[in-house]
Amino acid sequence: MMGQLHGKTAIVTGASRGIGRAIALEFARRGAAVVVNYHTNAAAAQEVVDAITTAGGRAIPVQADVSRFDQASALVKAALDAFGKLDILVNNAGTTRDTLLMTMSEEDWDAVINADLKSVFNCCKAAVRPMIRARNGRIINISSVVGLAGQGGQTNYAAAKAGIIGFSKSLAKELGARNITVNVVAPGFIPTALTDVLSEEQKQAVLKATPLGRFGTPEEVAYAVSFLASDEAAFITGAVLTVDGGLVMH
Ligand SMILES: NC(=O)c1ccc[n+]([C@@H]2O[C@H](COP(=O)([O-])OP(=O)(O)OC[C@H]3O[C@@H](n4cnc5c(N)ncnc54)[C@H](OP(=O)(O)O)[C@@H]3O)[C@@H](O)[C@H]2O)c1
Repeated sequence: MMGQLHGKTAIVTGASRGIGRAIALEFARRGAAVVVNYHTNAAAAQEVVDAITTAGGRAIPVQADVSRFDQASALVKAALDAFGKLDILVNNAGTTRDTLLMTMSEEDWDAVINADLKSVFNCCKAAVRPMIRARNGRIINISSVVGLAGQGGQTNYAAAKAGIIGFSKSLAKELGARNITVNVVAPGFIPTALTDVLSEEQKQAVLKATPLGRFGTPEEVAYAVSFLASDEAAFITGAVLTVDGGLVMH
């Protein structure tokens, strides 16, 4: 069967809720041992781990604020200590602080750049060494269609998400010869806690602009990420895969 992950070890950042949770569950379903990273929500992360272990899979929760370099390094070390190797890194953790540039504070800017972009540098920096040693690795970074198309009220978020794309393409060039692929998944509108803050009017506008005429699910993002993490995706690197019902065709 396609897309199996038996024998692989994965870290999913921000896996306590939303899209990251769905990725962790799908990875485990396909046979991977999963490190379920979270920031503040220990109970939710434990629930994800329990769901995986109850179904016969392997998973551990690891607390780390991935916007912090030292904590991201500790996360990768915890994965290596627990499972002995690291095959897959998914940089999914992210946050928003939406406001117009006119009213955006320096703190709003820094918080989103650190949580959404610097976190990707932090985790990749720590993960790349063991992957190079193993001459094997899959890195999947979660961007957003907002990083491709822009969105008023999200200059900080769009900059971080567009930054992830440039970062990933560059890293893909650096690591190709080491048999490590680096790809980006850019979701469209997926109802989660992150999108709860949007007004009904904003949601209807997105729906109208989406050719498939509906919002996506966290599971539909997880399927795309799982494919890129699998052996079948061995010749794909530096790609940006939109999972958005056709909202942004780039
Ligand atoms: N939902 C969408 O429509 C959409 C669209 C495009 C892209 N995305 C991207 O998809 C990713 C997941 O989004 P989501 O909608 O699933 O969001 P969510 O439901 O708000 O979940 C965010 C997750 O990230 C974790 N997190 C936040 N800051 C962190 C940090 N500094 N260190 C470690 N973990 C951190 C949270 O952990 P705690 O639970 O412990 O706080 C939580 O597990 C994000 O990168 C987001 O930008 C989402």
